[in-house]
Amino acid sequence: MSTGPLALHRHGPQTGLPLVLLHGFPLDSRMWDEVVARLDDVPVVTVDAPGFGGSPAPDDVAAAVSRSPEPSLETSADAVALTLRGAGIERAVVAGLSMGGYVVLALAERHRGLLAAVGLLDTKAEPDPEEARENRLRVAEAAERTGAEAVAGMADTVLGETTLGERPEVVTRMREWLGQAPAVGIAWAQRAMAARPGRLTALEDLEVPGLVLRGAEDATSTQDAAQTMARALGGGAELVVVPRAGHMTAIEDPDAVAGALRRLHATVA
Ligand code: MLT
Repeated sequence: MSTGPLALHRHGPQTGLPLVLLHGFPLDSRMWDEVVARLDDVPVVTVDAPGFGGSPAPDDVAAAVSRSPEPSLETSADAVALTLRGAGIERAVVAGLSMGGYVVLALAERHRGLLAAVGLLDTKAEPDPEEARENRLRVAEAAERTGAEAVAGMADTVLGETTLGERPEVVTRMREWLGQAPAVGIAWAQRAMAARPGRLTALEDLEVPGLVLRGAEDATSTQDAAQTMARALGGGAELVVVPRAGHMTAIEDPDAVAGALRRLHATVA
């Protein structure tokens, strides 16, 4: 339920400093289900990105925050901030996984006052190299032609080798979600991520506690990128490496992710 431009879902207690969770690409708030189930004493809020889950199409979201329809994570960040304010949330611990982390970085740049603490999971502050950017634009075009087919192969790259080899139920769930990914959300998000700048400076200016977390088997968000963000964070950060997990730690090891988020929340709650 939401009074802002994005779909917002509340879980657990309705009072206290909220822990806001922003999902990765090309999923929606369901990605956090197993983590949320382990945090039933924490006021958790999940928000769907433009074009995903229960959120409206990206062009409508952009109009609601008075921005051009040009895909950008700045629009996503403004929409998250407005949605939270619409729900009466002026300050929160905000954590994002991968694409959700890019939105946290944009919030750090544009809505710093909202952030009581930040969690950066399986993400990076650097912009894409040219080749990766071009690939994103190809995926965006493919999504417009073939829909979710454009991301069908992602399970094999985003899940870690341990999950792929030993946890068929996680692989099946991930494939189901990928099959449901909406074309308009895929295309807009890929173009928005392709356009994102580096945002390390935003972290340096942010004097709040942080969590930087990555799966040890994640091939896309490297240990170097995680260490760089942890060092940059002005308020200090806990750096957590989750063994036997890839890029989708919240799905692959919800115990570890819930534990780290609980510690982050407790530092300020
Ligand atoms: C995600 O999980 O959100 C994606 O891997 C983000 C990206 O493509 O950089």
